[in-house]
Amino acid sequence: MKTRREFLKDSGGAALVVSSLSLISFLESCGPGNYVQYSEKPGQIIVNKAELVEKAFVLVDSDLVKAPIYLRQDASGKYIALLMKCTHNGTQLKPEGGKIVCPLHGSQFTNSGIVTKSPAKTNLHTFAVNEEGDTIIINI
Ligand code: FES
Repeated sequence: MKTRREFLKDSGGAALVVSSLSLISFLESCGPGNYVQYSEKPGQIIVNKAELVEKAFVLVDSDLVKAPIYLRQDASGKYIALLMKCTHNGTQLKPEGGKIVCPLHGSQFTNSGIVTKSPAKTNLHTFAVNEEGDTIIINI
């Protein structure tokens, strides 16, 4: 029988890959690295496009809205901004493995805000987004 140390040494490559993937998944789901800098104007939250480079999504935590905003760019290049507030009972949502989940009662949404699992029955609130030069403007 192998000791724990021998097992880890023998399977080091695979364990490292699994650990790395788990760490990336964890960081993508809730790490502070996903929160980005922004500026505000009346009715607008402005994010630099550079904030999204090499990120599946970013989170914007502005006092202008009641929950963070999930911001991503889809395959066609269109920006999508969603309010991370559950449409069932208002709980703050969490990104998890490419989808958005509610930690309270388990509702799930796609990363485009479409409800896929109840008890929520309504899609997430989306914000109109437009681009201006190097910036993304979220209209609230
Ligand atoms: S508050 Fe989100 S599922 Fe109930």
